[in-house]
Amino acid sequence: MHIPVLADEAINFLNVQKDGIYVDATAGAGGHSGKILEKLERGALIAIDADGAALETAASGLEKYAGKVKFVNGNFADIGAILNGLYIKGIDGILYDLGISSMQIAEAKRGFSFMQDGPLDMRMDTNRRFNAGDIIDSYPEEELRRIFISYGQDRWAARVARRIVEARKSEDIKTTLQLSKIIKDSIPAGYIRKSRIDPSTRIFQALRIEVNNELKNLSDTLPGAMSFLKPGGRMVVLSYHSLEDRIVKNFFRGNKGVLKTLTKKPVVPSDEEVGRNARSRSALLRAAEMMPPVKYAGE
Ligand SMILES: C[S@@+](CC[C@H](N)C(=O)[O-])C[C@H]1O[C@@H](n2cnc3c(N)ncnc32)[C@H](O)[C@@H]1O
Repeated sequence: MHIPVLADEAINFLNVQKDGIYVDATAGAGGHSGKILEKLERGALIAIDADGAALETAASGLEKYAGKVKFVNGNFADIGAILNGLYIKGIDGILYDLGISSMQIAEAKRGFSFMQDGPLDMRMDTNRRFNAGDIIDSYPEEELRRIFISYGQDRWAARVARRIVEARKSEDIKTTLQLSKIIKDSIPAGYIRKSRIDPSTRIFQALRIEVNNELKNLSDTLPGAMSFLKPGGRMVVLSYHSLEDRIVKNFFRGNKGVLKTLTKKPVVPSDEEVGRNARSRSALLRAAEMMPPVKYAGE
């Protein structure tokens, strides 16, 4: 089961009005969507997810709100086209809860987890072809090293890249556990013993970001979403690592005259929430509000 992270905080920052139009850009299991829908009377929610299976789960859990919610299987990078396609001119708020859901991690065949064996897949949108196996099979060593450094910030990036290229000369690297073993074999045993996280964590994160184009999607969606926000409308983003959070922070800063930042520092979960839901431990929430249009003398 996926437990929504910073749910009360996210909904408070969205400042849901009962007749407003809201977008949940990452509907997932529908946890945050349900909380928005609870508050809507005459308003509407557009619930987007790139993963068709996730959207089906959300839709079945939110059946009682059927008249108020429109589900869209799409990429939030296309937010402009999605909203134009629904003839929506302005929105009162948009929420992003980035990354993957517990459902996606739990399903071995999606290939997101190094704790259970599955194919090297990691696609959120299963209609796309490119997957983690393609990266492991075909990227040159320097490219592997680059993504492990840029997207995994992994100190052993060079060693892991070299070991993968060596290993693939003699074996087909097809599964998550095979890859996880190669990663472990690349890193000094003493370091693994002392480390608080599994040595595969950062490498798997890097592969997932590359497969799904995650940072570019985020950079592409924010300006599009902002252009639909009504004055007073809110944008709330939950990130799970510094690469995402930096994009959001810089976007808010770069649009100072248009967006008012509501969170000087990112809001993080309480110890109580982390105790209840380990997935929340790296969450960083930022929120901003659309300012009224500037009035010029004589207008
Ligand atoms: C952390 S989960 C969201 C969980 C949800 N807030 C809930 O409470 O159940 C993130 C979801 O975003 C989706 N996602 C990630 N990137 C996306 C993108 N570019 N466009 C649309 N959906 C995306 C994933 O498929 C996943 O279902």
